[in-house]
Amino acid sequence: MKREFREMLNQRGRKTLPNVLLAAAECAPLSKTGGLADVVGTLPKSLARLGIDARVITPYHRVIKEKYAAQVQHLFYFFVDLGWRHEYVGIEKLELDGVIIYLVDSERYFGDKIYRGGYDEIEQYAFFCRAVLNAIPNLGFTPDVVHCNDWHTAMIPMLARTQYHGAMQENMRFLLTIHNIAFQGKCGFDFVQDLLGVDAKYYTAEFMELYGCANFLKAGCVFAHKINTVSPSYAWEIRTPYFSEGLDGILNARANDLSGIINGIDKQVFNPKTDAKIPARFDRGHLKGKAQCKAALQQRLGLEVRADVPLFAMVTRMTEQKGFDLVTCALDELMSHEDMQFALLGSGDARFENFMRGAEARYKGRLCAYIGYNEELSHLYYAGSDFFLMPSRFEPCGLSQMLAMRYGSLPIVRETGGLRDTVTPYNKYTGEGDGFSFANYDAWELREAVRRALDCWKDEGVMRALVNNAMQADFGFEISAQEYAKLYICML
Ligand code: ADP
Ligand code: GLC
Repeated sequence: MKREFREMLNQRGRKTLPNVLLAAAECAPLSKTGGLADVVGTLPKSLARLGIDARVITPYHRVIKEKYAAQVQHLFYFFVDLGWRHEYVGIEKLELDGVIIYLVDSERYFGDKIYRGGYDEIEQYAFFCRAVLNAIPNLGFTPDVVHCNDWHTAMIPMLARTQYHGAMQENMRFLLTIHNIAFQGKCGFDFVQDLLGVDAKYYTAEFMELYGCANFLKAGCVFAHKINTVSPSYAWEIRTPYFSEGLDGILNARANDLSGIINGIDKQVFNPKTDAKIPARFDRGHLKGKAQCKAALQQRLGLEVRADVPLFAMVTRMTEQKGFDLVTCALDELMSHEDMQFALLGSGDARFENFMRGAEARYKGRLCAYIGYNEELSHLYYAGSDFFLMPSRFEPCGLSQMLAMRYGSLPIVRETGGLRDTVTPYNKYTGEGDGFSFANYDAWELREAVRRALDCWKDEGVMRALVNNAMQADFGFEISAQEYAKLYICML
């Protein structure tokens, strides 16, 4: 055990590292719609290397059943009451890469989509919070810390601390990680009261009420012992009204318990030296393979196969968060004036999908919009592109820019949240940097940042140095895992 941990434990009169149970709606590689899954999948592996027994509890979604049913072991089952509903809960176990994952089985709630939307989704995850709490005493694993992630699991601390008097759940410690404050789990209070039996005295501004709604994330912010978010910049941003989506009041009140820990990436899964999902492998000093990946990507997407044209990529959820308003403003201007190619892999809001389909028709052979989710292909996008665009309106952390850098694709980002904390903009006077950035949410600033990137493209020496810097940046989970370990210990 690290000396620092031992000293921290001694101060608390404890000898052993805490057991941690991570509760989350998704967990890679089992189920994934975005970066949350990557973090939940990777963090326990890095914690294990520090000697912490961290296990995951997540819904047994349809997508998991389809692929992993044969490897899953049934542990036990019970029923929970949600208002008038009497629901089956199966607890299954799966071991993956040395990490134990408990799967909450319910055909009724997890038999189709990961997120059903609207009130159905509130019901799915109210059920999940209740099922997790009631499963804990029988897991054969006693967590000291329950690490909740986003609104889907944010009711757990409140339920434990207000409804489990005298039971083991009441005395556990709760950490809430906010991966994205834009999603809060809001509904009428009568619905929460019906589903979870929450006492009406908690429906006040002091507890879970916000702007006339019951708010799961707010309840988490009130009742968790500690709160963190996924980058230092986002940790202060969410204390301001612009970013907080209404939660700045409670977050400022809890400022002493709020911190920012930057995410890492899984360096084994995303490794250009060994990645089997790309047609040729490469590393910092040997970039021939990257040129082959670029040609393969161009070919696959029906783009002109040319080494001399810069290829810009985006791999993303297509929402306002990711800066698509700016892309729709600046894209035509750039595509019609610059010799460049553009490749998108993503899905989301219909208006952005349609805009990109239209752009593909306008710039056939130079622009390809692959509308959909494709894990395999995403690797080729990172490996085959020269630049990676991420002009987010807000970005709690962002993993894609780190993945792009790992594969030598230079990020062009807006200076917000984790993008600000992970990308060092190119400074033409000192030669420092590993990407490009702009400050304001403004399409012309994005255009200028792209132009700066295009200027560098013309200078082979500068490009080589920037790619080298980007690939050298260390975004492994080791440092973040240590920060989490310290946070868990100081909660004991
Ligand atoms: P967010 O979680 O906000 O969507 P992140 O950058 O943290 O953003 O994580 C996104 C993750 O999802 C990355 O691993 C990225 O490669 C992946 N991803 C996003 N969109 C797609 C897509 N259409 N196909 C494949 N992978 C995707
Ligand atoms: C959220 C955020 C993203 C972050 C991810 C993992 O989806 O939008 O910025 O990287 O969670 O923490």
